[in-house]
Amino acid sequence: MAGIDLSVNISGVDFKNPLIVASGPPTLSAEHVLKCIRAGAAGAVTKTITYDVTQQVQPKPRMLVVNPEDALRNRFYSLYSIDLMSEYRPELWLRQISEAKKEAKAHGGVIIASIAGRTFEEWEKLAKLVEEAGVDMVELNLSCPHLEKNVLMGRAVSSSPEKVSEILKTIKKATSLPVIGKLTPHGANPVELARIMVSSGVNALVSTARFQGLIVDLETMRPVSWGGFGGYGGPWQIPISVSWTAHIAMERLGVPLIGSGGVSKWEDAVQLILAGASAIQVCTAIMINGLKIIPEILRGIEEWMVSKGFQNIADFSGTIIDRIVPLEKLERRKRFRLYIDAEKCVKCGVCIRVCPYGALKAVNTASIPEPEQEECDNCGLCLSICPRRAISFKE
Ligand SMILES: Cc1cc2nc3c(=O)[nH]c(=O)nc-3n(C[C@H](O)[C@H](O)[C@H](O)COP(=O)(O)O)c2cc1C
Ligand code: SF4
Ligand code: SF4
Repeated sequence: MAGIDLSVNISGVDFKNPLIVASGPPTLSAEHVLKCIRAGAAGAVTKTITYDVTQQVQPKPRMLVVNPEDALRNRFYSLYSIDLMSEYRPELWLRQISEAKKEAKAHGGVIIASIAGRTFEEWEKLAKLVEEAGVDMVELNLSCPHLEKNVLMGRAVSSSPEKVSEILKTIKKATSLPVIGKLTPHGANPVELARIMVSSGVNALVSTARFQGLIVDLETMRPVSWGGFGGYGGPWQIPISVSWTAHIAMERLGVPLIGSGGVSKWEDAVQLILAGASAIQVCTAIMINGLKIIPEILRGIEEWMVSKGFQNIADFSGTIIDRIVPLEKLERRKRFRLYIDAEKCVKCGVCIRVCPYGALKAVNTASIPEPEQEECDNCGLCLSICPRRAISFKE
């Protein structure tokens, strides 16, 4: 679109637009990474490269869509899965990336290697190896929801700030590439983690990743499908990801943020950018809707920018931060009168049912509810649930 520049710079690396494909099945090999870049993504993060063989062999089955009908319509759904790390040995990745590099560059695509070590020495070795392969950036998997106990990777290590700091310092000594730290929202405070990572030399942060869940079958009384815990994420996660992104942005730590966790539409991407992200990562939505959502999301961002008169991502990145009203300053005194539009109301009775104060009453099921203005506490619940948008406040 004329006049619109979607490019962003993250820690010295140029991205032609703000959409990066996150580490996962869409990037399970270098050819997959290339497919993402050919589809228009500015960059892609490889599936996490590790020497841990228990992470390289995938459980079968390992993926389950909760609310599949909604997933196919791109509404709220969840992806529950126990997809582990890359099944390819690091040395195979080295070869694959070296070969893919040229084509990625021709498309202006950035290759980011996700790595995870079991020891500080392994973290160091992997960082050196991916730099040798020719990647543009390194991302540290400090977020994998499946890792829980006493290991130096995934969300397990994120509960030990000293170890996270030590990993970062090790990596920064091993490579001159910009390093991205991936934050977990599960069992750790992402804002605290972000601070620790920044003080240990991280160059950019991903906020945030998935949670761990457990879904139980009531018939067998066992966990469903593969029988254990699983990662749990999807479009429902967006407000949580936007909130963490805003909280981290408010700290003004001086490193770029990459917003992630539940992006499935351009609106999600714009929200994350408004909350302080410079770019966004997407994984689950590409798995469910295919690579076509990459240009769709980018087109949506562009059209929205045109409608708002923005030319660059930086024009609106983080602009809502100063508009977030803190708890102690929220409006409490103003009172509204509640109106019901008789033309729109279909007498479904939902507003009567949900009102916590019993402020809506109807003479019978065939009549329009009537508000008791004195009893209405202006909570807003009936307004937002009315299927006909028939209820409004007037000052
Ligand atoms: C099936 C699956 C496999 C994933 N594998 C990895 C991985 O190997 N390494 C990693 O850092 N993140 C992995 N992730 C997490 C994603 O990179 C991403 O952080 C997370 O899913 C949130 O983004 P999304 O809502 O766009 O999927 C995986 C996610 C899914 C759904
Ligand atoms: S929820 Fe809306 S449509 Fe239903 S009774 Fe109340 S005002 Fe009418
Ligand atoms: S705004 Fe809240 S308190 Fe007032 S009628 Fe609606 S649900 Fe009840």
